Amino acid sequence: MRTAEVRTRFLDYFAERGHTVVPSAPLPTPDPTLLFVNAGMVPFKPYLTGTAEPPWPRATSVQKCIRTLDIEEVGKTTRHGSFFQMNGNFSFGDYFKEQAIAYAWELSTKPLTDGGYGLDPDRIWVTVHHSDGDARGLWRQLAGLPDERIVARGDEDNFWSMGVPGPCGPCSELYYDRGPALGREGGPEVDEDRYMEFWNLVFMQYERGEGPGKSGYPILGELPRRNIDTGMGLERMATLLQGVDNLYEIDETRPILNRAAELAGVRYGADEQADVRLRVVADHVRTALMLLTDGTTPGNEGRGYVLRRILRRAVRSMRQLGYEDRALPELLPAARDCMAASYPEVAEVYERSADQADAEEDAFRATLRQGTTVLDTAVAAVKDSGGRSLPGAQAFLLHDTYGFPIDLTLEMAAEQGIEVDREGFTALMAAQRERARADARARKGAAPLDTAALRAVLDEHGPTDWQAWSTLTTDSRVLAVLGPDGPVKAARAGAVVTVLLDRTPFYAESGGQESDAGRLTGASVEADVLDVQRPLPGLVAHQVRVTAGDLAPGDTLRAAVDADWRLGARQAHSGTHVLHAALREVLGPTALQSGSYNRPGYLRLDFPWRGGLSPLVRGDIEEAANRALRRDLPVGVEWMTLPEAKRKGALALFDETYGEKVRVVEIGGEWSRELCGGTHVERSSQIGVVSLTAESSVGAGMRRLEAVVGLEGFDYLARERDLVSRIAEQVPGPRAELPDRIEAILSRLKAADRENARLKREAALSRATDLAASAENLSGTLLATTFIDGTASDARDLSQAIRDALPRTEPSVAAVAARTEGKGILAVALNTRARELGLSAGTLVKAALRGRGGGSAESAQGGGVRADELDAVLAVLRTAVTEGTSTDE
Ligand code: SER
Repeated sequence: MRTAEVRTRFLDYFAERGHTVVPSAPLPTPDPTLLFVNAGMVPFKPYLTGTAEPPWPRATSVQKCIRTLDIEEVGKTTRHGSFFQMNGNFSFGDYFKEQAIAYAWELSTKPLTDGGYGLDPDRIWVTVHHSDGDARGLWRQLAGLPDERIVARGDEDNFWSMGVPGPCGPCSELYYDRGPALGREGGPEVDEDRYMEFWNLVFMQYERGEGPGKSGYPILGELPRRNIDTGMGLERMATLLQGVDNLYEIDETRPILNRAAELAGVRYGADEQADVRLRVVADHVRTALMLLTDGTTPGNEGRGYVLRRILRRAVRSMRQLGYEDRALPELLPAARDCMAASYPEVAEVYERSADQADAEEDAFRATLRQGTTVLDTAVAAVKDSGGRSLPGAQAFLLHDTYGFPIDLTLEMAAEQGIEVDREGFTALMAAQRERARADARARKGAAPLDTAALRAVLDEHGPTDWQAWSTLTTDSRVLAVLGPDGPVKAARAGAVVTVLLDRTPFYAESGGQESDAGRLTGASVEADVLDVQRPLPGLVAHQVRVTAGDLAPGDTLRAAVDADWRLGARQAHSGTHVLHAALREVLGPTALQSGSYNRPGYLRLDFPWRGGLSPLVRGDIEEAANRALRRDLPVGVEWMTLPEAKRKGALALFDETYGEKVRVVEIGGEWSRELCGGTHVERSSQIGVVSLTAESSVGAGMRRLEAVVGLEGFDYLARERDLVSRIAEQVPGPRAELPDRIEAILSRLKAADRENARLKREAALSRATDLAASAENLSGTLLATTFIDGTASDARDLSQAIRDALPRTEPSVAAVAARTEGKGILAVALNTRARELGLSAGTLVKAALRGRGGGSAESAQGGGVRADELDAVLAVLRTAVTEGTSTDE
């Protein structure tokens, strides 16, 4: 089956099932988070997130997409193309999981003769998100899939987002077993080449925030509607149906590959390395043409750079295949012929695209020439001096200044019989990367830690004598002062440096507890401690800002933790344990902390839980925590072996390698028992108060509780009280009655709104007679139309009133176009005489609104358009009435 046929079967199938066919958006997207459209859902993002009203409840499309993240993989695997087309069906708050699964299954397995893809149901495997029992059940029930072919996977594989903030949700993927010749038995977990993914169904329910691409980002909340976004790889389905090995061999790319092989005089399939290059050429030439068609031009930044890189890689691959002439004028026509059938614009603007590609190829060839001169000179120098190897610095210069990739340098040097100092080159590249990283760090304000220098200190002086559990001050000696470039003899006032001491009372950030703040004070030096870390086991490093004098190795000084800070830190850390125990008291033992952070006054902890906590449950948790404070429970620290700790039920929360004995912190004996290295209060009452401030989602099935403790806890409550006081000033009466009074005010407001609406409606109805009088005569049928600001029922009422005011003896139609919050509504009513002529209100509304709406033959209404489209809607209606083309439903 040709690729074009795969695409039309898809669109036809979903169009027949009520989906509006939407043409592909251009590749460059106005979405600020992306350079190019990278998934079928991108043009629909505002409908999915609910920021715009979808014009249709269901849509289907074949969308052009570009993904260049794995560009080095192109040609090497069987299934990654930099340009690809995604067939999708979308539901915006309409059908959900069950229907999406049923559609995908039916279309995939329906016989070819029935318009389907005819895949063998026994070779289809699916994956589901491990938390998605529903999807598993549906696959069993709707497709009859056995459990062993329903594979559960985690966020990384089965929770889909755009990689950036936006809509997301668990997904379910369909895979096809291409047979034992292509890999090992065992499903997609074992071999993704043999089991080729061809369709991804995303159950879009959530909105994600900033964070890593695939997992571990925060979930900001639920979307206003539950949506469906599916993506079927057009090229992958074509690969399956055409029985070819990979997507470069399907009908839309193979002719480009053949042309490249012909030019280079090689045979595809004879040599693996040459084959990879041919596939790169086929992929890249097609991608470049599609980008050029959509108006991207080669450049040094953003979209232009992506295109430039792709064109250059294509040209270079041809060169590596032994073809040194201008290649693009030979290859682009093949790509055009492949793609123009589905995208006529490819042929329409082809001349322009070809001109730009040719110019870029010429420029690259000039670069190659220049670089070649530099390379030749360097090679000659090496040979003159009797050497055999091109220095790494030369290779780096070629890369950095002339844009020569290292493999090109290697290859060209080899042609002249010399090697390249790859190690030297790699070291320079690494140094460049490190400079870039250091720049990034410097922007964040943190000084880099020089691991070699730190290790030298540890080797020379042994581990830091760490006193954080027993004291707030120590007399300490400065062992070393490290600047960004290594050890320094002295740091002046204003400098931010890393200081290593023989002894320290400072807590280094760990186990969720923030590091201590405080000061270092010597005879002639003072410094603020900004951050304390343990960069190597046993070594505590202080990042400090020198505020007076010089700080030098050998200085003796007093290291003092800020006592208030530490008290706050102890309250917050013990508060975290208390909240954790309270949480488990209320929710049960599955609510096990999976991450936490605390600093003076504030704490948060994350735990697995499905769904949000109700205000009632939050109240219970807060109360359990504060009851534990009032009971003034003793806080104790005990050292014991790990098995002993486990026997006593201590919770080990983070993956640390514990030494011989572990430290167990208890609050109220077994009420709270956790392995912990933090600093704590002596009795629970010292925490003061635990006030919950927030509860939110931080990932699929993961919740976060935040609280303030100690003085900050009281401050928070005081601010809340102040807020209530200010509200109470506006709403007179006893404070205890505030909620009731506000509710009463709101319901009075609602009643007033309703009354207001009723008056508006009445006023509108009284207009009915006037409107009926001004009806136009369309070849014997009277048509009265009007615009109002109002709801669907306003429009319906008015259309019926006008209809009743129109003469009963004439065929009469009344149409009311209503605007409400930017949306448009149309209501039509007509009389018996109009019915006798064959007109129907339902049919007229459907004709005017492209199918959206319904009702009876006498009275009907619909929406789904924007308010500013109503003029056009009425124009269509007028034509329909005039032509009398509408027939009874
Ligand atoms: N958005 C999903 C994907 O790109 C499904 O269309 O895989």
